[in-house]
Amino acid sequence: MILMRRLKLTQRLKLIRHLFSIMFLCIYLYLMLLHREYPDKQSSYSLRAMNSDEYCHFKPSTDQFILKYKPYLLTANLSNVKRVKPTIERIRNLLEIIRSKEDTYQLLLERFGVFDMTNPTASLKAYTDESNIDEIKTLYNRYIKLMPDNKTIHVDHTIIDYLKQISSYLSDGLENNRTNRFQVGCLRKPVFVLACDQSFFNGLQGAIRTLDTYWPDHKIAFYNLGITSDQEELLREKCKRCEIIKFPFSDIGKYALYFGTLKFYSFKPFVIQDALRRYGTIIYGDSSIRFKSNSFSPILIDNYIRGFAVRELPSRSLPCYTRTGTFDWFNQSYSQYGDIAMAETDLLVVTDTFLTRLIMKAWLTCALESECIMALGSQSKCRGSSSGRHRYDQGAMVIILTHFFFPGTISTRSSQRVSHPAPYNMFTSSQVNLGDIKRGYQDPSY
Ligand SMILES: *[C@@H]1O[C@H](CO)[C@@H](O)[C@H](O)[C@H]1NC(C)=O
Ligand SMILES: *[C@@H]1O[C@H](CO)[C@@H](O)[C@H](O)[C@H]1NC(C)=O
Ligand SMILES: *[C@@H]1O[C@H](CO)[C@@H](O)[C@H](O)[C@H]1NC(C)=O
Ligand SMILES: *[C@@H]1O[C@H](CO)[C@@H](O)[C@H](O)[C@H]1NC(C)=O
Repeated sequence: MILMRRLKLTQRLKLIRHLFSIMFLCIYLYLMLLHREYPDKQSSYSLRAMNSDEYCHFKPSTDQFILKYKPYLLTANLSNVKRVKPTIERIRNLLEIIRSKEDTYQLLLERFGVFDMTNPTASLKAYTDESNIDEIKTLYNRYIKLMPDNKTIHVDHTIIDYLKQISSYLSDGLENNRTNRFQVGCLRKPVFVLACDQSFFNGLQGAIRTLDTYWPDHKIAFYNLGITSDQEELLREKCKRCEIIKFPFSDIGKYALYFGTLKFYSFKPFVIQDALRRYGTIIYGDSSIRFKSNSFSPILIDNYIRGFAVRELPSRSLPCYTRTGTFDWFNQSYSQYGDIAMAETDLLVVTDTFLTRLIMKAWLTCALESECIMALGSQSKCRGSSSGRHRYDQGAMVIILTHFFFPGTISTRSSQRVSHPAPYNMFTSSQVNLGDIKRGYQDPSY
């Protein structure tokens, strides 16, 4: 009897020991999984998948991160002989021009949520719950100060270090050589922004179709630039996630008569600003855009730091597509922009940051002045010849961006000069082809 009992007891003990070791193994495996380290690669941005009604209340503090970042390649220190780059003088010059137009346009701009330089602390307002307005104000007040004459602006010299760090961080992304990566727990969900009038409506349907393929659960804001009521009805019926917003031509037309003429593209900065103030993070596409991928995450993450991402046209020189009058308006000389590439506004990723507030204010002001956006009566000067070529909103946008971002480096590869993308080029974040432009391509059977 006793022997039997003892045997049973040892069996039980064995079983318990067994159970314990299995439990330990489980806990060990669980902890291993929990602490698994992701390789530090672009493709490994592992973000929590968010469903449509879940919000990300992440307000990234980029300031400390960017100031501490150790550049792999100090983009800003490489000599780029004649190319323009951010300097205190250029930034001050730009801000003073913008300030000098403010008394004329501020009433209108305020309706679009644009801050007032005479009172930035009160007028810099959060656009959405997710706006990091505290950081925007901190940076503004650290670097920019309007003098009591309401004309002169003092720009703190440390802004150049800040901008160098940003450009270096972004350019280091190009070859995946970041020494330290900005970490995010979740991503703000972007809103897709489209705009067109009736003649581009069929193209627009093609754009929405590609959004249905790659981005089925994201909101679309459509700016109605003059579609027919039949088209509007069709859109309401077919696109439940589209919010249709009527573009306020009459409000702006009072300030600039040419606004209704779409081929001057002055509407575009306003569409982008209006969408930005409503949603905070936007991806704008022309109606001719055809999205090809849903991998915007690296761009959206970099945009917490950069704010404004565009696509450059690498072989096209800015002065070849921009009339000299536009440079004059910015008090700039076209001859210093020969090595700056043209960029397009057909696909833009814009996030509300300190830099974006400045860029948008300058771009909107330019759009309101025909001497800036149209520059009639002047010609573009390009490699010794002149022409009437002009890309309205695009030329102005690139001029503005060069005040805040250092140019991409130029290197020589087998005696060929190779120009690397500028930090504001979305290619520095993601080398995936995100979308194509299909001009004149219609898709009526949406
Ligand atoms: C970059 O240039 C600045 C001045 O032009 C200099 O003070 C700084 O030490 C340089 N940095 C590096 C890492 O070379
Ligand atoms: C500057 O602008 C502020 C705010 O609009 C105003 O109160 C102040 O009187 C102005 N100062 C001058 C010198 O015009
Ligand atoms: C980036 O790093 C890789 C290796 O990690 C190297 O081959 C490449 O030359 C670096 N790029 C630059 C621009 O230095
Ligand atoms: C235009 O730029 C020049 C330097 O290139 C500067 O001396 C001048 O003050 C600027 N003019 C205005 C109105 O800002």
